[in-house]
Amino acid sequence: MKISFKTTGPSQGRSGRFKRRSRSLSQSSTDSYSSGSYSGSSSDEDDVSPREKVQYNSKNFKDFCVRNIKQAAFGRREIEIAEQEMPGLMLLRKRAEGEKPLKGAKIIGCTHITAQAAVLIETLHALGANVRWSACNIYSTQNEVAAALAEAGFPIFAWRGETEDDFWWCIERCILSDDWQPNMILDDGGDATHMMLKKCPETFKLIKGIVEESVTGVHRLYQLSKSNKLSVPAMNVNDSVTKVKFDNLYCCRESILDALKRTTDIMFGGKQVVVIGYGEVGKGCCAALKGLGAIVYITEIDPICALQACMDGFRVVKLDEVVRIADVIITASGNKNVVTRQHLDRMKNGCIVCNMGHSNTEIDVDSLRTPDLTWEKVRSQVDHIIWPDGKRILLLAQGRLVNWSCSTVPSFVVSITATTQALALIELFNAPQGRYKKDVYLLPKKLDEYVASLHLPAFDAHLTELTDEQAKYIGLNKAGPFKPNYYRY
Ligand SMILES: NC(=O)c1ccc[n+]([C@@H]2O[C@H](COP(=O)([O-])OP(=O)(O)OC[C@H]3O[C@@H](n4cnc5c(N)ncnc54)[C@H](O)[C@@H]3O)[C@@H](O)[C@H]2O)c1
Repeated sequence: MKISFKTTGPSQGRSGRFKRRSRSLSQSSTDSYSSGSYSGSSSDEDDVSPREKVQYNSKNFKDFCVRNIKQAAFGRREIEIAEQEMPGLMLLRKRAEGEKPLKGAKIIGCTHITAQAAVLIETLHALGANVRWSACNIYSTQNEVAAALAEAGFPIFAWRGETEDDFWWCIERCILSDDWQPNMILDDGGDATHMMLKKCPETFKLIKGIVEESVTGVHRLYQLSKSNKLSVPAMNVNDSVTKVKFDNLYCCRESILDALKRTTDIMFGGKQVVVIGYGEVGKGCCAALKGLGAIVYITEIDPICALQACMDGFRVVKLDEVVRIADVIITASGNKNVVTRQHLDRMKNGCIVCNMGHSNTEIDVDSLRTPDLTWEKVRSQVDHIIWPDGKRILLLAQGRLVNWSCSTVPSFVVSITATTQALALIELFNAPQGRYKKDVYLLPKKLDEYVASLHLPAFDAHLTELTDEQAKYIGLNKAGPFKPNYYRY
């Protein structure tokens, strides 16, 4: 099947480790979860900065900066494992490789550098693009994967444990290079976009399109657009259906258990768990916990979500009503201070507290830094907070995204997001003049549907085709899009 990248027209977007180094706490580092990875395999014990080393790959290529090129073989195996679980992206690669829809694209990438991201990078290359890549987070790079990419000849500038200065240096190395005039940006957090706009405004004007994944990056783009400073079209991948539904719901459904098990070895059967917020993330967490026999309580502010929780068989309560009996409390509201010191004071001994929502604002962790309480590190990402009477609570990842900090994210979900990113790049790069203005857009519905369809063969799922009569009856084109933009899924 040939891919058609034509669409019915653009849909207008809508607005919206605890080392002591400042960069790690930047927003872009904390809100981009979809491709982040907790990898026990990377090591940053090497004290010599990669910037001070001269390294060559086996073909004498040296336009890269990674921790240790010798780890390449190990990284390649990691990439091969990820490829197995990224069927949609691999199918896109196979289908579009002949057409080379990204021929001529020169992409600056700034994302987490993980095995899954490597599959994306190699796909973009197979589709004709030239790329230069740096990390959007100073701790998430899998060093061996970065080495494997460098060994394959990609200009990669990233290692786990970069300093703030290293971080910006790496991005700069991607933007500025002899014989290189970038024309696309794939960003996760908005840092590459920001740097290019500030440091190379003339080059920025030549960019054909920006694809942004994170909440923060998208927010920055809308701000730029509002103040008329966005001189190129941008695509908000964060709000595409295939991102929100799959990353927020299904990814969290799997990774909440993974994160809690890895950190606490907890058995879920019969445990009393409170989930704060019954949105996509909360729904995913609750479904998984219920499946393992936990007794789940929900807190909500929104009557619709609260009613959904009731229909799904959960008790909707105020946190105050259950805080004393809870074994586990999980925040998933995207709000701030939904768990306060007053709540923490009333929790029972051994209660586990963690956050699945945006950034680190949901649990008032700062309120626990008082002289009367003792912090005791139990394991990586696990702290005991001890009250004067001996009561302990377990705080995971110091209130940051627990799945992102303490587990790995399923490759299949990353495949969906990465396919969305690749298609957004293809769409912006190939769009005829005038289709996209200097504004922020959502991925056209048809491409969203295409992302999903690329992942169906992995399940041997067979779609039903509309008959002509049926298509006419419900007023649809037989090839889609199958839903209006306002449809909620
Ligand atoms: N951990 C991850 O991997 C991951 C993945 C995607 C999104 N997120 C983040 O998780 C958060 C939730 O995402 P979502 O897609 O479920 O959002 P959502 O808006 O669908 O759901 C949040 C829910 O919390 C409720 N809420 C808000 N304030 C509340 C309060 N004080 N008490 C109780 N309920 C409250 C809202 O009514 C809403 O229903 C966001 O911050 C999002 O960025 C995390």
